[in-house]
Amino acid sequence: MNYLRNNQLKSVAISSEDIRTGIKGVIGKEIFFCKAVDSTNTIASGLADKGVVEGAVVVADSQSRGRGRLGRSWVSPPGVNVYMSIVLRPEMESKDATLITIMTAVGCTIALRGVTGLDITIKWPNDLMVYEKKLGGILTETRVANKRIEHAITGIGINVNMDLDALPDDVREVATSIKMETGRLFSRTEVIKEVLNGIDNWYNILKEKKHSELLSQWKLLTSTLGRKVEITLGNETLTGLAEFINDEGMLVLRLPSGASKVIRCGDLKLLR
Ligand code: BTN
Repeated sequence: MNYLRNNQLKSVAISSEDIRTGIKGVIGKEIFFCKAVDSTNTIASGLADKGVVEGAVVVADSQSRGRGRLGRSWVSPPGVNVYMSIVLRPEMESKDATLITIMTAVGCTIALRGVTGLDITIKWPNDLMVYEKKLGGILTETRVANKRIEHAITGIGINVNMDLDALPDDVREVATSIKMETGRLFSRTEVIKEVLNGIDNWYNILKEKKHSELLSQWKLLTSTLGRKVEITLGNETLTGLAEFINDEGMLVLRLPSGASKVIRCGDLKLLR
């Protein structure tokens, strides 16, 4: 339904009008489309500061300074991928911010499985994976006052029609795209619509504080639990068994000593 023949790609630009017509909830009712930006998260954060409505989305065709987690950059060439950021204003304490990433990952994964038929899984906390390769990522940034979230920006990067040669050497081994996995080109507009509707659904569940429903769904979609993992936090590297995520979305690791450790953030590698 929503894939394209190779020769159609050039004529397919992202259409914010088409996105708007397919939006079912609050998320994506207001869309700001930009051809080229430094980072959609930066633009969305500026709009949030000016009081833009909850659910507003900034979509860009390319980013010159796309940001990833842990200070990394996000490769964002024009014409091929999805880069977008959503403004959220959840009634939440800042300690629960990881749940926004968890919710976004669940909404994206279910939507992308539906659109592509790929067996996409979530690697804690924010990676969308196809087998061992990364297809997309989520970067949640928050403005906090008195330990409560004033606004959150959830930024989503999805590699859609990108070829391997668009990637720098160091990420070629670990990244993939929907096209690389399926051999087909996909409409970015369709991908955006489905993902925004998917996130809208799970954001409502998060706002209703149905955390156990969200976490149970996450468990069904993750490739992390039950695996031996290595986690790097600054200079420290830990290995252990990824046992579960707690009510705040933190990963609980069983260390070789038998002790358990709650991991708030870090770079996670799945071991064999
Ligand atoms: C990661 O996996 O490290 C997170 C990547 C998040 C990338 C997206 S692209 C849209 C939004 N704008 C950014 O600068 N980053 C996020």
